[in-house]
Amino acid sequence: MTLEGHIKIFSHKKISSGRGGSVHDHVVGISLVVPADSSEGFAKVIRIEEGRDDKLLNAVKVSLGVLGVISKVKLSIEKAFKRSMTYNFTSDVALEDIFMEHGKKFEFGDITWYPSRKTAVYRYDFRSPANVPGNGVNDFIGFQSNPILISKGIRAVEKALESSKNENGKCSTADTTLAYKKLTGNGLKNNGLIFTKYPVIGSQGKIQTSGSCLYSSSIRIDVSCAWDPRYNSLFFYETTAIFAVSRFRDFLLDVKKLRDLKPERLCGIDIYNGILIRFIKGSKAYLGQTEDSVVVDFNYYQADDALTPRLNEDVMEEMEQMAFVKHGAKPHWGKNRKVGFFGLKQKYGPNFDKFLEVKNKLDPKGMFSSEWSDEMLFGKEGSKYDGCALEGNCLCSEDRHCSPSKGYFCRQGLVYTQARVCSFSPAHGLMA
Ligand SMILES: *[C@@H]1O[C@H](CO)[C@@H](O)[C@H](O)[C@H]1NC(C)=O
Repeated sequence: MTLEGHIKIFSHKKISSGRGGSVHDHVVGISLVVPADSSEGFAKVIRIEEGRDDKLLNAVKVSLGVLGVISKVKLSIEKAFKRSMTYNFTSDVALEDIFMEHGKKFEFGDITWYPSRKTAVYRYDFRSPANVPGNGVNDFIGFQSNPILISKGIRAVEKALESSKNENGKCSTADTTLAYKKLTGNGLKNNGLIFTKYPVIGSQGKIQTSGSCLYSSSIRIDVSCAWDPRYNSLFFYETTAIFAVSRFRDFLLDVKKLRDLKPERLCGIDIYNGILIRFIKGSKAYLGQTEDSVVVDFNYYQADDALTPRLNEDVMEEMEQMAFVKHGAKPHWGKNRKVGFFGLKQKYGPNFDKFLEVKNKLDPKGMFSSEWSDEMLFGKEGSKYDGCALEGNCLCSEDRHCSPSKGYFCRQGLVYTQARVCSFSPAHGLMA
């Protein structure tokens, strides 16, 4: 179950604390409509309760829609409290030694890392009693409304920088964006209106969620969410990889090595939100995280058509393969390109079979399976076609899986040499 999308619920919570930050781990009951035989009228409702039907609940609370139709959810609630938040924009030196300490120290802490800018933003975020003064809100910059003309303009600039392969132009955009975020506290508002100083203290409900752009069009018709597909504005991918805590330091060091070869090549992700590092507590959900984990998210340009390579395509692909292949990360079910879903049965181990056991029992004829769900669950590499690696539908093994006519060839990674990535090589293109 995921609530990504409209109102954004940031799921992060101190690894050792309570039920953790994943919404599914606060679910204590579910009603599920499942197929039945004709004597039962072809459908029946089963009611699942924590403590009584734990095996079922562990399967159903993260079930991708393949077990039946969820018709009711019972959530555990807790008493109102406030949060106190500060962003510390600082250097990324020693990030690999600090991240876990930070995650343990702050119940709602996270880190936004802008690798090309060598900047890490530590979020100091913890509980305060409900009677502490403060009416702050978290109106995250990325989810504020934007004039439609501006969003279109930003997209046009990004497209132009892509087609002229202008890394420095992207780096200037990244600089401007980061400076603006620092100035505005990333969208925190002390009194609900503007950002004046840290810490920003507000009630949990106003700090945990964000998404004011969703409501803006009822007030003004010339504004929207920047990614609204009706207006040809922002269009990007989001890769989200979930690591066992023990593997994350090495991933971070690999990305630093890749960055150090040529930092400008990572400006394209720093235009968005850099690399967002969050912490999640282990879960009993079969398709959740069995152990305490560290999550990274990064966003990057997506062209209007599937066969146009992106600037520094190979960097994003190498990071993706470092995460999912080298360091065994699992994908976020609601994000990612197909390559993030390869080999999941091995990564989930016995829990994967426990999930399928429940699936066979509740939906033996596979009424709730689809080509999409089979691909997600059994993520096998399908047949490869010309250009399939550009949109992450395959890992390249031949040049034609990239875009030889545009100068992109299948090459090994620079730091993770087993990676196979689409690399731009103008000289090679001329010789061919
Ligand atoms: C910000 O983080 C840096 C690096 O961890 C630390 O040295 C500095 O004291 C922090 N600043 C504040 C205001 O906490």
